[in-house]
Amino acid sequence: MIWQALLVFAFAAEGNAPLLTREQQEEFLRTAKFVEFKGAGKGITGSRRAKMTDGTITHWAHIQVVDEAKANFQGDRGTEINFRDSWKYNVAAYKLDKLLGLNMIPVSVERKVGGKSAAVTWWVDDVMMDEGGRLKQKLRAPDQKRWNDQLHAVRMFDQLIYNTDRNMQNLLITNSWDIWIIDHTRAFRLHRTLRDPKLVVRYDKALLDGLRRLDKATLQREMKGYLTGMEIDGILARRDCLLKRFDEDRTSRGEEQVVYEMPRRSTDVRLALR
Ligand SMILES: Nc1ncnc2c1ncn2[C@@H]1O[C@H](COP(=O)(O)OP(=O)(O)O)[C@@H](O)[C@H]1O
Ligand SMILES: [Mg+2]
Repeated sequence: MIWQALLVFAFAAEGNAPLLTREQQEEFLRTAKFVEFKGAGKGITGSRRAKMTDGTITHWAHIQVVDEAKANFQGDRGTEINFRDSWKYNVAAYKLDKLLGLNMIPVSVERKVGGKSAAVTWWVDDVMMDEGGRLKQKLRAPDQKRWNDQLHAVRMFDQLIYNTDRNMQNLLITNSWDIWIIDHTRAFRLHRTLRDPKLVVRYDKALLDGLRRLDKATLQREMKGYLTGMEIDGILARRDCLLKRFDEDRTSRGEEQVVYEMPRRSTDVRLALR
């Protein structure tokens, strides 16, 4: 539409930043030049952040190259067998977020960085604090319902992907109290049951629809190179567990108690022109 193009131009001309769609963010992360590297600041894998530019846009990205497998790993819940910690799961989690329409995971693409395969992830700019910071400061979100809606969606997603590492640094909170979830390098376990079923007590309607829509052929196509067949089977088995749990909860507690509708936020990001 011409009027839309004019509107976008008018905003840009006013000094207002353009919006970048997820597809545009993906393209930027895949092709822009790296101009500077530094440590990510937090976390344990020694991941880095990189400043990138395509000549018009300059933005930071998170670089994760970890790719480890251990027969046994001593974690916070005891020994984990078949432990894996991989950048591939950051890309897989983002792709799954897209398939489900969750809109809570920053764009993440595969790219070689310094000769090593990596997940290159859009740096979330307007982070106010992480969940650890919120708890330490004993802050409460101004809109408790909206906050809880988001948390319940995160919990369901974490059960679906069998995330073993939703630690407090892996949940970021923006100035407008939007939650972004990051760091899925220790997820996608092979278990066919849920890790913590009790954590799932409310079910977002669109997420339920997304779960029902998930199918093996799509996952095999989308996750090629990132998840194995057994990891995909794990997702589908846990999806079935979640839907079964939903049916039971609906029967025992009533639909209106367990179903809610979380408004989806836009995945576009606003950027300053340079
Ligand atoms: N996309 C991102 N946007 C903003 N901050 C990020 C992003 N990715 C990582 N971080 C920051 O970097 C830290 C380390 O990254 P993370 O992926 O959690 O690695 P680790 O596996 O070492 O915990 C995070 O706790 C967070 O503070
Ligand atoms: Mg982390």
